Amino acid sequence: MPILLLKSILSIVMVVLAVIVMFTMFEVFGRDGKRYNIEKLKKIHKANGIIYIALYIFIAYFCLNYILQAKAELSPRAAFHFVFALTVIVLFGLKISFIRIYRQFYGHVKTIGLLIALLTFGMTGTSGGYYLLATKFGTEPFNLNGIETKHENPTVAKIIAKTDEESIRKGKELYESKCYFCHDAYSMEWGVGPGHKGILKNPMLPASKKPATPENIANQIRNPYKDMPSFSYLPDEDVLNIIAFLNTL
Ligand code: HEC
Repeated sequence: MPILLLKSILSIVMVVLAVIVMFTMFEVFGRDGKRYNIEKLKKIHKANGIIYIALYIFIAYFCLNYILQAKAELSPRAAFHFVFALTVIVLFGLKISFIRIYRQFYGHVKTIGLLIALLTFGMTGTSGGYYLLATKFGTEPFNLNGIETKHENPTVAKIIAKTDEESIRKGKELYESKCYFCHDAYSMEWGVGPGHKGILKNPMLPASKKPATPENIANQIRNPYKDMPSFSYLPDEDVLNIIAFLNTL
């Protein structure tokens, strides 16, 4: 399963948890006559909170890794997602501290809980929700053919893939440090991006469906088709070495 799909499904689980947590809170504090066993509701509330935070940490680890790899400015959507996520974790910390330590503030705990739940909708909507919609619930690749490309194609001079061992070795090293997080070199499976097996042997590139030429790959590295971060900082030499490695797949 592509990592982004897994992450999106887990984020939907987080929304479900947020709904359950809200429901238990409303039942405990909001109703005049009690319908359910309060102790049981509190236990459910707490268990949900623990699972929520475990999922949060798991997903955040993935997201931070992505940002580290990309080293690029976040898109407006990702920036909103980031702000929602940061706010959620800070509020969560506050809430726990008001319950455990700063009991004088206990009165605010309900409002904070509500805010966390609301922000969870925003956090998931701007990421997992968007992903599931854009991929028709994981049935289509994230970068659909036919979506307008954001960037103009710069003219790139004709490139002939190098075949000497030294270039291929350097290209492999670069690939393993910069590309492997999102791409599988040895299959055509999608991770975050498409697999690269046979990338220069197939007629078309997997996401953009442009002709599979070294020029178009160089262009992808510098001026990506859609969501891939740009590696425009790489010198020509590195790009050529990466292409030499991709040519062997
Ligand atoms: C942070 C994730 C990420 C990293 C790191 C990454 N890519 Fe990508 N790559 C993608 C995504 C997503 C796509 C799908 C197309 C797009 O969004 O531009 C893609 C698509 C591609 C394609 C296919 C383009 C097409 O036109 O179909 C190639 C080739 C490619 N990447 C090469 C590389 C190389 C080489 C590196 C390392 C220098 C790299 N990628 C690093 C995410 C990444």
